[in-house]
Amino acid sequence: MLGNFCYHNATKLYFGPDSLEYLNEELPKYGKTVQLIYGGGSIQKNGIYEAVVAILKANDKTIVEDGGVMPNPTIEKVRDGVRIAREGKADLLLAVGGGSCCDYAKAVAVSVHCEEDPWEKYYVRYEEPDCKILPVGCVLTMAGTGSEMNGGSVITNHAIKRKAGHVFGPEVMPKFSILNPKFTMSLPRRQMIAGIYDIFNHICEQYFSGEDDNTSDYLAEALMRSVIHSSRIAVQNPQDYEARSNIMWSATWALNTLISRGKATDWMVHQIGHAVSAWTDATHGLTLAAVSLPYYRLILPYGLQKFVRFAAEVWKVDPTGKTELQIAEEGLAAMKQWMKELGLPLSIGKLGATADMIEGIADSTNLLRGAYHKLSRAEVVQILKESI
Ligand code: NZQ
Ligand code: ZN
Repeated sequence: MLGNFCYHNATKLYFGPDSLEYLNEELPKYGKTVQLIYGGGSIQKNGIYEAVVAILKANDKTIVEDGGVMPNPTIEKVRDGVRIAREGKADLLLAVGGGSCCDYAKAVAVSVHCEEDPWEKYYVRYEEPDCKILPVGCVLTMAGTGSEMNGGSVITNHAIKRKAGHVFGPEVMPKFSILNPKFTMSLPRRQMIAGIYDIFNHICEQYFSGEDDNTSDYLAEALMRSVIHSSRIAVQNPQDYEARSNIMWSATWALNTLISRGKATDWMVHQIGHAVSAWTDATHGLTLAAVSLPYYRLILPYGLQKFVRFAAEVWKVDPTGKTELQIAEEGLAAMKQWMKELGLPLSIGKLGATADMIEGIADSTNLLRGAYHKLSRAEVVQILKESI
């Protein structure tokens, strides 16, 4: 049953192979100085940097450079970005990159005019911003996180081995995002599959909860089928525009709050994945892949009906002559087969985790209420041991 909810998405999207042109429509809405945020150099290699700078110059903008945003952006880098924005008097934060650049831009946006330390305020106390917020725009180069159309901002603090996400409100979400699927074509295969699994797991995190008849779950099933279909094409031919564009659009809808409306959510795979990243700095989507199967096998008995539905609707498992448990397990087996086809790592050991880290990773895991079952710390250890 759908209860009370609000749906408000503040981000304007431009999609397609010519969408960068729309930067010309957006830039005049903001002040003269643009802080150009990007990562470790991919946009210089694939020509996106040059194209964006040309448009900024044509619009008579002053560019303040802020490169070097690392995957799993750190709180130290956020503090540095705040300094750059203050010194440069930035009017717009333009993130050109993947989820890391976009998340980082949001963290800087809420910190430039804030006297308090951003880690303590936003990632420990989870307070809402009470200062002026700088506008964020995004030119997306990697499909996965959904950061282009949500308020999520995930930041890592290596000193205390914590990776924490704050979901900010509409005022922090990108004012606009430009999604050109062609920009994702230069992604290394490992990043492409990491993004694909991230999308899929975002949908799972919102799907595996509740047993009622809910429109959000039908939407989730359609998105999952689209991701599975397009990913199978994309791994064979990464240059297939149709597949890459479907993947990019699915990523946005997987985590722009639509499919969580009116229902509970889970997010425990993400909590464990974040803890693995906090210890290993491993790629986000790959950490999710490595811990998903042991987690879903563990919660399956608590949410059996939904796992049966997942098997039937997403993986087209034939139920004839099978018990509910067999159908549900076949669904997870089909999911595992798909993950292997993509080449995803199914072990945290392959991501740099070692057995002596397991207790520490469990300590770094935020234990949420969960959807069907609240994990104990001992169960987190069990999942990690199965995945090592
Ligand atoms: O840094 P550069 O040189 O740009 O290289 C990046 C980076 O090494 C590369 N890349 C991106 N686009 C490329 C490209 N290489 C070649 N061609 C391109 N077109 O890919 C690498 C990964 O980029 P990154 O931005 O880190 O990936 P992703 O988009 O997966 O973002 C991951 C971050 O987002 C957080 C994750 O935890 C992680 O910190 N998340 C954010 C969420 C949100 N805002 O709602 C939700 C997610 O669950 C996730 O937690
Ligand atoms: Zn994710």
